[in-house]
Amino acid sequence: MGLLSLPIILSAVLAAAVEPPKGHPWLAPGPNDYRGPCPMLNTLSNHNFLPHDGRNITKNKVVSAMSSALNFNESLAALMFEMAIVANPEPNATFFTLDQLNVHNVLEHDGSLSRTDAFFGSNHIFNETIFNETKVYWTGEILDANMLANSKIARQLNSKAFNPTYRFTSSVESFSLGEVSAPIVAFGDLQAVTVNRTLVEYFFENERFPTELGWSTRKEVVNIEDILRLSQAISDASNLITTDKEVVSTQRRDLHGGLY
Ligand code: HEM
Repeated sequence: MGLLSLPIILSAVLAAAVEPPKGHPWLAPGPNDYRGPCPMLNTLSNHNFLPHDGRNITKNKVVSAMSSALNFNESLAALMFEMAIVANPEPNATFFTLDQLNVHNVLEHDGSLSRTDAFFGSNHIFNETIFNETKVYWTGEILDANMLANSKIARQLNSKAFNPTYRFTSSVESFSLGEVSAPIVAFGDLQAVTVNRTLVEYFFENERFPTELGWSTRKEVVNIEDILRLSQAISDASNLITTDKEVVSTQRRDLHGGLY
């Protein structure tokens, strides 16, 4: 390789590294833009896959956003929209807005990974203290079902212990299992049921696709069977009982020093 080609290669690598999803640069929400409790819908709006103002989110927009940004198949994205439309209190509504998702105990619930319970404060703005609580249980560089499940249980236990209005029904449990496995769906390995912790933290903390960390939209199409299988994996990993032979090990217990 000639010396002259080095700067060209370097600038190509750098350009690739900082490139946002094609045609979808990240733009922080403005003061009049709606955002909600879902870090992914917020991210899709920040990248203009969904309306940047967080309003008028129709089925077509959800299908198109989730297909182009996450490679969800159409029926999966349509199903998610159908489950979400309850957020708009208007009869026969054809859209929802991100702030309609903030109403407590409709879709938004207690024990979230990155937001505090409505009883304590904003149930929809990213909360660093709560997320730090979650991250205690992410004990390796590669998150697996056990680590994600452990953080979910820990958040619920904390809420149950200290929030006098704690509520977590079996239908919330189904949604919650989907949410807790969602980082794997968006950024991880669907077969291994793992995801790189750095990508997940970047996503939660910035509500931005981790393109600059090397992530890109997956090549395989995601369908409902994938979602159900991953939710089941989190549910199985939430079991605190082992057999007498089994040792459920999470990696690097020393990671958080004084806590153990
Ligand atoms: C129409 C589609 C969707 C709707 C209406 C929706 C709605 C919501 C709502 C209401 C919450 C808050 C639950 C809580 O109180 O913790 C939530 C959380 C979450 N959502 Fe979504 N979501 C959608 C799609 C997605 C997708 C496609 C992903 C990623 C693949 C995703 C990732 C997450 C994650 C990781 C959380 C947990 C946040 C936390 O616990 O702090 N969502 N979503």
